[in-house]
Amino acid sequence: MATSTHNHSLKTDILVIGSGIAGLSAALKLATDYSVILIAKASLNEGSTNYAQGGIAGVLDPFDSIDAHISDTLDAGAGLCDPKAVSVVATHAAEAIRELIDLGVPFSKQVDSESSFPFHLTQEGGHSHRRVIHAADHTGQSVIDTLISCVKTHPNITLLPEHIAIDLILNQKRNRCLGTYVLNKTEKTIYGIAARFTILATGGASKAYLYTSNPDTSTGDGIAMAWRAGCSIANMEFNQFHPTCLHHPKDRSFLISEAIRGEGGILKLPDGTAFMANYDPRADLAPRDIVARAIDHEMKIHGIDCVYLDISHKPRDFIQNHFPTIYERCLKVGIDIAREPIPVVPAAHYTCGGVITDLEGQTSLNGLYAIGETAYTGLHGANRLASNSLAEGLVFAKMAAQSIKKAFPLTVPAEHEITPWDCTGITDPAEKILVSHDWDELRRVMWDYVGIVRTNERLKRARQRLRNLHKEIDEYYHQHTVTSDLLELRNLVMVAELMVMSAQRRKESRGLHYNLDYPHTHKKAKPTILKPK
Ligand code: FAD
Ligand code: SIN
Repeated sequence: MATSTHNHSLKTDILVIGSGIAGLSAALKLATDYSVILIAKASLNEGSTNYAQGGIAGVLDPFDSIDAHISDTLDAGAGLCDPKAVSVVATHAAEAIRELIDLGVPFSKQVDSESSFPFHLTQEGGHSHRRVIHAADHTGQSVIDTLISCVKTHPNITLLPEHIAIDLILNQKRNRCLGTYVLNKTEKTIYGIAARFTILATGGASKAYLYTSNPDTSTGDGIAMAWRAGCSIANMEFNQFHPTCLHHPKDRSFLISEAIRGEGGILKLPDGTAFMANYDPRADLAPRDIVARAIDHEMKIHGIDCVYLDISHKPRDFIQNHFPTIYERCLKVGIDIAREPIPVVPAAHYTCGGVITDLEGQTSLNGLYAIGETAYTGLHGANRLASNSLAEGLVFAKMAAQSIKKAFPLTVPAEHEITPWDCTGITDPAEKILVSHDWDELRRVMWDYVGIVRTNERLKRARQRLRNLHKEIDEYYHQHTVTSDLLELRNLVMVAELMVMSAQRRKESRGLHYNLDYPHTHKKAKPTILKPK
């Protein structure tokens, strides 16, 4: 059935696009003073946040320090972090976590400890201290459930799940964002939502890769929309591969948390040899880029399909208490992790680049903010430190809310400027295979040519293939009824091209970007900034 347009538009003070940790937190902070509409393209709980396992980094232990968190983040970021962004997150993460505790998130408690802090802190790669608060191995789900129950009962928040944003609405003369066009997926209608402030909190773009730990929502929509609206994008070559996702024909890419290594898990070859100490003095607790590259290297030299992560030396009840989700999920496919090692491979996990914002989450477009994984704040540099991303989502939601509160009195409503969505000349597609084929091709090209280890030739090929795909998808988009699959594909091909363009610009290897043709690291680190023409 063809999509229809509605002549009416909705209006609100604040429009939040996305219901992950960033979007929900911002909505709650702003709803104290303003009307908020929050849209999400799937159910409210679907998004990367819901799957987060390890936890949230913050300086909570009295023996830890903000300087140590800053230093670990800078170190993981391989010289490319913006120290100001790092300082903002390290300084404010603890208070943001305390707010979650006050809202009722059931974080795991310490047992048998004399520490004055009542919650258990785990360790992950690259952290010099235990500073990751968690709810067993289902932190994200516990956080999201709590935040959703708060927004659901808030009188100033209207929730619109199953609504996908298509494009931002602009007033070019005033360089201002006026809201967005949105497809109601259930009713198949398109209309505008006018807002004084729009917040992009649409998550990352790891679905660009064939194998990913991410849910289907991570298609880079916010990054693509912002780019089309004229915002600059930074550091898209740095897509993080998580070293340890389950390798099993029945459950590919389920994440095996880094916290397993934090609690003593060891990476091994099929014959039981531990190998990480050959790559880094921190061995299994080295930052992710180093561990993922080491695994990739071992798999290639030994011609093996996976390596193994072994925590079976720990008591069964310890494993069941700390990692109930992972224990059960592995058991379901016949792996008893208390007795045997877990087969693991790296998979695309996190988009370190994104829409450039200042330290208040504001983009270069008036009225448009970007927070969470969609944004590039400068925090992660060339490689994100584990568990810094939930912290970033929380902290920048707060910064953006404060900034909007300051700017709000200076703005005017925008609804009179919104014109209805135009779908003249659009027809229903005769077949769906064109879209599904392009999805597969795009993700395979990225996996094969723009993976953990890159070369100039692979990047060149990827660029050519993506250029063709982009052209085909754009033509198709302008002739056919929009569906969420088509919208996501259009966004993902755009973002994949930005990833390849950025990778081609970087003539060195640094952090997550490793190019065999440029194995050295330049002395001076510079972000890759792409500006729309
Ligand atoms: P998401 O949580 O991804 O939410 C995005 C939202 O945007 C969704 O509601 C989606 O429906 C919506 N959306 C997207 N596009 C549109 C559109 N066009 N229109 C409308 N809505 C749209 N980080 C940590 O710090 N600690 C961890 O332990 C951790 N573990 C992880 C484990 C897994 C398996 C994964 C996948 C990630 C993990 N991460 C972890 C990373 C972290 O979870 C994410 O970076 C973070 O949750 C992103 O939050 P977000 O709010 O930016 O986006
Ligand atoms: C994990 O639990 O290993 C994921 C942590 C993260 O991505 O920060």
